[in-house]
Amino acid sequence: MTEHLPKPAITIVDTLDPVQQEIFDRLLATAFHKPGQTEEEHWASNDRYGSDDKVGYALTHVGDRLVGGMLLLERALPYGGRTVRLGGIGGVATHPDWRGRGIAEATLRAAMDDLRRRGAEVAYLCAVPELGRRLYAKVGFAPLGRPYTYRGRSGKEYTDHDGWLAPLTDPALCAAMLADTATLDLAGSNW
Ligand SMILES: CC(C)(COP(=O)(O)OP(=O)(O)OC[C@H]1O[C@@H](n2cnc3c(N)ncnc32)[C@H](O)[C@@H]1OP(=O)(O)O)[C@@H](O)C(=O)NCCC(=O)NCCS
Repeated sequence: MTEHLPKPAITIVDTLDPVQQEIFDRLLATAFHKPGQTEEEHWASNDRYGSDDKVGYALTHVGDRLVGGMLLLERALPYGGRTVRLGGIGGVATHPDWRGRGIAEATLRAAMDDLRRRGAEVAYLCAVPELGRRLYAKVGFAPLGRPYTYRGRSGKEYTDHDGWLAPLTDPALCAAMLADTATLDLAGSNW
């Protein structure tokens, strides 16, 4: 028998009420749960990925169940003598029961459209190479290909190599940022 499920519905919201926030946090905790993670690893992960620059959420529901979501972020980034309106995507999560059905990709497309609508020039996120190639490259992301630096919530300085950029409203700026060779300073936390 064919499975008859309501079509996933994607919404973009600027804020969540406390109940919605709890549901969203539960989705993140479920999606990112790593069995056997030590307390130090948990601390480091929380320290690295701050979300002070949150401007909204992309949420995907099937019926009234939240099955996927992500954070939309934005930061005024000092870069090359100017300020870049850097959009960002973080906390990309699909509930384990709903993976492999294109939910992350569809939600990501809506999130990118929304960042563009907000006027962000270039989008940034971090991802391991395989996920970057198979998911994020589909919506325009290309690997930064060089180190970037950022500050954790504790003030600790980090250097990582898994950054990706995509054009939003300024493709030429994105191309120039990708062609640059200097370490990129994210001037804040990672997303
Ligand atoms: C990553 C995640 C959001 C993908 O969600 P999803 O709804 O299953 O993704 P989609 O169905 O839209 O998949 C889109 C593409 O990405 C690929 N993909 C999905 N998860 C992947 C993974 N973990 N590694 C590599 N590729 C992956 C899919 O195979 C698909 O590509 P294909 O069409 O070539 O097969 C989900 O697995 C998740 O919540 N993971 C845990 C949290 C996480 O790692 N988030 C990302 C942090 S950068």
